Amino acid sequence: MSLGGVKNDKMKEKISKIREKMKSEAVKSHEALEAFRIAYLGTKGVMKQLFGDLKEVANEEKKEAGQLLNQLRMDLEAVYAEHKEKLEQTEDLGSNLDLSRPAEDVNIGSRHPLSLVRSEIIEIFSRIGYNVSEGPEIEDDWHNFSALNFPPEHPARDMQDTFFIEKGKEEIALRTHTSSVQVRVMENQKPPIRTISPGRVYRNEAISARAHCFFHQIEGLYIDKKVSFADLKQTLLYFAKEVFGEKAQIRLRPSYFPFTEPSAEVDVSCTICNSKGCNVCKYTGWLEILGCGMVDPNVLEASGIDSKVYSGFAFGMGVERIAQLKYKVNDLRLYSENDIRFLKQFTAG
Ligand code: PHE
Repeated sequence: MSLGGVKNDKMKEKISKIREKMKSEAVKSHEALEAFRIAYLGTKGVMKQLFGDLKEVANEEKKEAGQLLNQLRMDLEAVYAEHKEKLEQTEDLGSNLDLSRPAEDVNIGSRHPLSLVRSEIIEIFSRIGYNVSEGPEIEDDWHNFSALNFPPEHPARDMQDTFFIEKGKEEIALRTHTSSVQVRVMENQKPPIRTISPGRVYRNEAISARAHCFFHQIEGLYIDKKVSFADLKQTLLYFAKEVFGEKAQIRLRPSYFPFTEPSAEVDVSCTICNSKGCNVCKYTGWLEILGCGMVDPNVLEASGIDSKVYSGFAFGMGVERIAQLKYKVNDLRLYSENDIRFLKQFTAG
């Protein structure tokens, strides 16, 4: 479009002059700010006049001139706002500044109890050479079951126990334990292996105070030449004392898992009543905290590890269970309901 119209040229000249002027205005007080507003944006101000001049611009050039004017008005408003903000800031710093005033509290929240316990357990095992391994929560049958020596008819493979991703397809499921991660580690690394696998696991359970459809586990795996059951017991005793205090004792009861042989369940002496008997330990003096055993040679072989050369142990525990004993939380649902009143009670250290 031609911009040759005399009126339009004049208007452009005016606009650029105003732009220069507005930049050079010194606005150092509220009075000056108000004067600025009246001069440029007020009902009798520069903008008002310019919009009045628009009448005289040729019709075909009105649109462009109007756009230029609108832009100018927006820029003036921005300059006005900038001056205003600066004035307010300097005022705050000036008369009202009191350097002796205590700073306001910053609300930083607190860490989730399960995160605290998870970090503590990782730290305890890292001190004796364990690294951390993680894997997918959506897992295939091989890593969650078959490689771990689960027979085809094992009840854990049932719809009642496991969440399968697709109806009728029993190949892909939400992992039911983090032993699946350990299979992945064995497939990809050569012994010696010393690793713990923290993570969320899923089971098809009705939600209640004592059971949930998801929870968190930390499983451990140690594979090397000549690893023995005595090594396992000593490792777990070290762990129990680190978590529950120097006085903690453990006992092992024979048990069964498809992937370990022999297998055991581990109890720790009741930290709540010092083994005298209370309702938490059901008057036995002992609390069950984890499952463990020597890795079944079939499991080693399934992941390509020579079971004639290597042996190993594995153990697995629920993070909620350890947190329950440390913090005396008796309802599992509290961990996932995000009630601030519950969560803010936990602090690190
Ligand atoms: N994977 C078992 C569970 O989910 C725990 C476990 C791990 C038991 C390793 C023995 C050895 O319950």
